[in-house]
Amino acid sequence: MSDPIVRMEGVHFHYNPDSDFPIHALQGIDLDVQAGDYLVIVGHNGSGKSTLAKNINLLLQPTAGDVWVKGLNTRRRENLLAIRSSVGMVFQVPDNQIVATIVEEDVAFGPENIGVPRDELRLRVDWALEVVDMLEHRHRPPHRLSAGQKQRVAIAGAIAIKPDILILDEATSLLDPKGREEVLRAVRALNEEGMTVIAITHFMHEATEGNRVVVMEEGKIVLEASPRAVFDHVEELRALQLDVPQPKELAYRLNGRDPTFPTDVVMVEELVDEVERRVKGGRRQ
Ligand SMILES: Nc1ncnc2c1ncn2[C@@H]1O[C@H](COP(=O)(O)OP(=O)(O)OP(=O)(O)O)[C@@H](O)[C@H]1O
Ligand SMILES: [Mg+2]
Repeated sequence: MSDPIVRMEGVHFHYNPDSDFPIHALQGIDLDVQAGDYLVIVGHNGSGKSTLAKNINLLLQPTAGDVWVKGLNTRRRENLLAIRSSVGMVFQVPDNQIVATIVEEDVAFGPENIGVPRDELRLRVDWALEVVDMLEHRHRPPHRLSAGQKQRVAIAGAIAIKPDILILDEATSLLDPKGREEVLRAVRALNEEGMTVIAITHFMHEATEGNRVVVMEEGKIVLEASPRAVFDHVEELRALQLDVPQPKELAYRLNGRDPTFPTDVVMVEELVDEVERRVKGGRRQ
């Protein structure tokens, strides 16, 4: 396997390290993210998800341990610019991330700041707005858009620097289901184009968007698996007060009544297919 695009080794992070009450927000994180991964990080409030993300894009530096982004150690000052232009980050509240009064100007802000030349800038902005399906709104003021549209503009702004890695920190949590689906669709398209995605979410069902899931608790990674395998840990997830997707929950209940009912379903369609198959089979007998 090639070198990971992000490597975290023995990472600890303390807020207010010199105070009487330092907060040990990351407690020994070891994590490799491969290029092209769609990694979903889940865990309940205060488990350290945002702190982990901020240690990747250099908003924070580890108190102990190391983080490498594309092989560059985040401790070295000379790596700052290269790392910042490799990592795009989108936060929870779209309004806090929008800086300009016209959509396309907002998207141009990031690449302009890193010195992208004018002709290239035009192409980047068009491409980014196209990916998130917002090109037709390019001349509108962002404050007239829906929350989902605003969040897609924020994503366009983050990807206009052509980062290798896109981090979404609860980027869908304030959106309605339609807005959430629009954003997830845009992120899926980016990942299919090869962008590495790290998505933090407290919606357990969004874990199925990715190819890997990490569950955090009290500053530690307590579970790491494929989305299918992670939901086999139903009891552990419940103990961590994390929900299991409804189809999975239902499959487990059905399995409790009929042990031949499979529990390896995650999607609604799979559950429906299985039930249909059984109903039809039953009729035939
Ligand atoms: N700026 C800060 N100063 C002091 N403590 C902080 C700060 N930011 C976070 N913390 C603390 O660090 C721990 C981890 O917080 P973090 O925000 O990383 O968790 P999270 O999993 O992202 O939570 P949430 O789901 O609420 O976003 C928590 O105990 C939190 O209170
Ligand atoms: Mg957070």
